[in-house]
Amino acid sequence: MSNEGFTAGGELSPERTPLGASGSAGSGSLTEVASSTPRRGWLMWLVGWGAAVVAYGAPIVAGLRAFLGPLGQKAQAGDFRRVAFLDAIPEDGSPLSVPVLADRVDAWNRVPNQPIGGVLLRRLGPDKVLAINVFCPHQGCAVEYQAESKRLFCPCHSASFDLEGKRLEPNSMSPRDLDILEAEVRNGNEVWVQFMNFRTGTPEKIPE
Ligand code: FES
Repeated sequence: MSNEGFTAGGELSPERTPLGASGSAGSGSLTEVASSTPRRGWLMWLVGWGAAVVAYGAPIVAGLRAFLGPLGQKAQAGDFRRVAFLDAIPEDGSPLSVPVLADRVDAWNRVPNQPIGGVLLRRLGPDKVLAINVFCPHQGCAVEYQAESKRLFCPCHSASFDLEGKRLEPNSMSPRDLDILEAEVRNGNEVWVQFMNFRTGTPEKIPE
């Protein structure tokens, strides 16, 4: 058996060591064995991290989206809120259009008094008010009061409603009447409305 390349003590001889770097077939196997061990370790580490990202990354991203998404940005709709004073509403029964404001909240911020919709208020008696959501149930345009014809009119596709919010055309573009909201007069002169928006395009009144 030849001891070429090794010292008497079995160590690799110094003059043979550069052959591993020369790329010759015979000596290359020694250096590849030496250098492939750390390379294999890195590969295993990367494969492990890839598996962890696949296993845990998607749920983490989904959780962040839920945290930062629309559910985290609710505008506190559905609560009673004061929208007007009674004495500002015309006594002749014509509607007053007022915006509805609420604090908009996301993951880090609360922005006060942001518009979330609007209502038409009609005075029905000394302590009774009719509140109609201003959004048309067809596609959500804001309806307007037309004093000449005493009706509510949607400018987007020409749907008309009476002052109770009922559809006037038998083949109305709107799939339902305007959405009536709960309203109360409190403390003699304050008008409070339980404000909410509803899904458009459906015959049913479905809160959003
Ligand atoms: S949005 Fe009102 S009729 Fe279409």
